[in-house]
Amino acid sequence: MAAILQLKPIENVPENRRASADPRDPAFFQNPYAFYDRQHASNPTFFWDQYGHWCFAGFKEVSALLRDKRFGREILHVATREELGMPEPKPHVASFDLTEKHSLLNLEPPAHTRLRTLVNRAFVSRHVEQLRPRIVKLANEMIDAFEGEDSVDLIKAFAAPIPAIIIAEMIGLPAESAPQLLAWSNRMVAMYMFGVSHETELDANEASQDFMDFIADSIVDRRKSPREDLLSHMLTSDRGGDKLSDEEVMSTAILLLNAGHEATVHTTGNGVKSILQSGIDPVTLFSSEEQTAATVEECLRFDAPLHMFTRYALSDLDYEGIQLRKGDVVGLMLGAANRDPARFANANSFDPFRTDGANVSFGAGIHFCIGAPLARIELQVAFSELFRRLPKLKLAEEPRYNDVYHFHGLEKLMVSWR
Ligand code: HEM
Repeated sequence: MAAILQLKPIENVPENRRASADPRDPAFFQNPYAFYDRQHASNPTFFWDQYGHWCFAGFKEVSALLRDKRFGREILHVATREELGMPEPKPHVASFDLTEKHSLLNLEPPAHTRLRTLVNRAFVSRHVEQLRPRIVKLANEMIDAFEGEDSVDLIKAFAAPIPAIIIAEMIGLPAESAPQLLAWSNRMVAMYMFGVSHETELDANEASQDFMDFIADSIVDRRKSPREDLLSHMLTSDRGGDKLSDEEVMSTAILLLNAGHEATVHTTGNGVKSILQSGIDPVTLFSSEEQTAATVEECLRFDAPLHMFTRYALSDLDYEGIQLRKGDVVGLMLGAANRDPARFANANSFDPFRTDGANVSFGAGIHFCIGAPLARIELQVAFSELFRRLPKLKLAEEPRYNDVYHFHGLEKLMVSWR
């Protein structure tokens, strides 16, 4: 079902609680922070006209809502389509829907708990920490490959390949398949854009089918000869006779591949841009393990890669004076919450030495990013190796963001280092 949409129009919203910003307007998605500043100053909980639902920009509110059990990512476990006025699934996106059907991100307990428990073990900190040397090696190989040039697009040459290769290898797919996985993933992610066209839907559906066929072949292979990888682990794990179906394994593998690189790529690009534009000497940013970790956290706070996640109200309820009906959508604005002046001193300045650091970039509550420990290691390694090898790194062009508001990442990051 791609992006969660408000189904029944919400009426009688007081004029002073409404806000308007077109997510497709380049002036907006190149710098959504100007809009966030206005909302923080006037109306941090507001009805966003273009989306047609209530949105929350405050750090406190977003943090609380992410953990609030009265809201969920799924609604059809508590209501029927008829009741909600939800259209029937579209046959031309059936393959895409199938990849999403068992996605952790779209499930609520108990189905969510069962699946998450099975996958979680592979992603705990002590397990992913073992990948650090591999990530260091990969980062250096990427830098070796472009160091002889005068300038490079850092997204393509550095930010994108590292997380894609790491997650592919973890699942048990060859590193050489990473570019193909990236291409499928990018076409699928287009479904989360605001106002998706029919062509985009068809294209995302085709990519989903090809992606599933590819994973299905690997599943057949692993059933015959299991290995030490996540795919084999998911196929063989058995909890009291409860096993994952092939469809569940496929959905989870695709979710991990998609979620496992997209946001990390964007955070790498956004973070390098923030560091370079801050004018801070990079040597000071990576002077110790603690400072490197703090720099990564500030990059995540200052320019988050994912700006809005949504939840359904699971029942009729009053949320701080706002009347919500079962099935109404709320927008949790992670990128705005991270810049809340009520939570952070000088919220709009990039300050890796701040003492009030925190962010909601990985979410919170039961859907808290399963890949956060891995992403943190990837980012720590990517930034510190990049600035260690190329200390004179500078922007060669004004970077521009992609036209996908939710996925706030650069389309290109041209840099030079001489
Ligand atoms: C900087 C990088 C990343 C960011 C900012 C990020 C952000 C997020 C956020 C905000 C959520 C929660 C969405 C919600 O509450 O609705 C989430 C969930 C998730 N992320 Fe990440 N993510 C990153 C990297 C990764 C990586 C590397 C992986 C996998 C290897 C991953 C896998 C997942 C999965 C599977 C979920 C769903 C968890 C659930 O629903 O229980 N993410 N991520």
